[in-house]
Amino acid sequence: MDSQIPNKKMHPGLYELVEPLIHWYRVHRRSLPWRETRDPYRIWVSEIMLQQTRVEAVKPYYERFLNNLPSVKDLAEAEEDKLLKLWEGLGYYNRVRNMQKAARQIMVDYEGKFPDTYEGILSLTGIGSYTAGAIASFAYGQRKPAVDGNVLRVITRITADDSDIMKQSTKKRIENELERIIPEDAPGDFNQGLIELGAIVCVPNGEPRCEECPACNLCEARKQGRISEIPVKTKAKERRIEKKTILVFSDNDRIAISKRPDKGLLAGLYELPGVPGHLSRKAVIEYCKSIGLMPVKIKKLPDAKHIFSHVEWHMTGYAVQVDELEKTNEKGFLFIHPEEIRSKYPIPSAYEAYMPQI
Ligand code: ADE
Repeated sequence: MDSQIPNKKMHPGLYELVEPLIHWYRVHRRSLPWRETRDPYRIWVSEIMLQQTRVEAVKPYYERFLNNLPSVKDLAEAEEDKLLKLWEGLGYYNRVRNMQKAARQIMVDYEGKFPDTYEGILSLTGIGSYTAGAIASFAYGQRKPAVDGNVLRVITRITADDSDIMKQSTKKRIENELERIIPEDAPGDFNQGLIELGAIVCVPNGEPRCEECPACNLCEARKQGRISEIPVKTKAKERRIEKKTILVFSDNDRIAISKRPDKGLLAGLYELPGVPGHLSRKAVIEYCKSIGLMPVKIKKLPDAKHIFSHVEWHMTGYAVQVDELEKTNEKGFLFIHPEEIRSKYPIPSAYEAYMPQI
């Protein structure tokens, strides 16, 4: 394979990795929908979905998203609620909002044609070096690295590199090293090979399957018995805990929901009303009265927890049947039929435990 001559400072194990990695990938690769295309739009959608979400969970979303929005133009023109509904359950909704911004940039700056240079791709909103490298190499066969957390784990193990992989400088250095060895004739398979190795052999949780690894004999961390120490990763800050009481208000046939603010956590999505703290039944009755509602039946709902990147919601809930939802003086409430909520209104999966009430 036609790689560049390795730089002296580079770890020799990396250069020797190229051939066995590509061969291994071609034999062992999982067949995944986004690996059967070279359409940059489809690759982009998959890579954004795959950030923070498992392959199996992404598959049905990927198909549905592309059936509904088959082109950059469709994405650029999509109604926000439709877009968020297609993303409902995937979480990290800014990912899809940024995709829409990028799609609009492509319409304006590139006449609707996906940019075909690394710099052009990187200039789009929500696309960093990993995604730009993935698209440039998978769609256009360009020699650009695609280094995410999984690839960092693989590379730092092979080279027994105990730098902190949370540091930008570590990532940048590894990107530079990989860029030198990516072979001219197989950049996509090289990058996909590293991704696949990180997904099915050099796994993020639990013991790596070293006996299946094409880099087994090169791997310095394995030779030095330091697999469990590498990668080195500084701990993220502890999450803030927010207690909430979720209230499923209904009258005969409708449920109260409201739209979240345009900024911040779960911006622009819809939610079930909630109040801070864990309320007793008595406090719920008081609260109902304070917003002008007359409860006729109250049922306690199970506790639930939802973990975001910086905050955890610890929830309890009540189903509160009221005589008439319209009596409330709460301005933000919308009264919607359950069927319509399910089909049209994007409600984040944080509320999943309370959705059977709807
Ligand atoms: N995770 C991120 N990108 C991926 C890809 N292209 N295939 C499988 N898993 C991935």
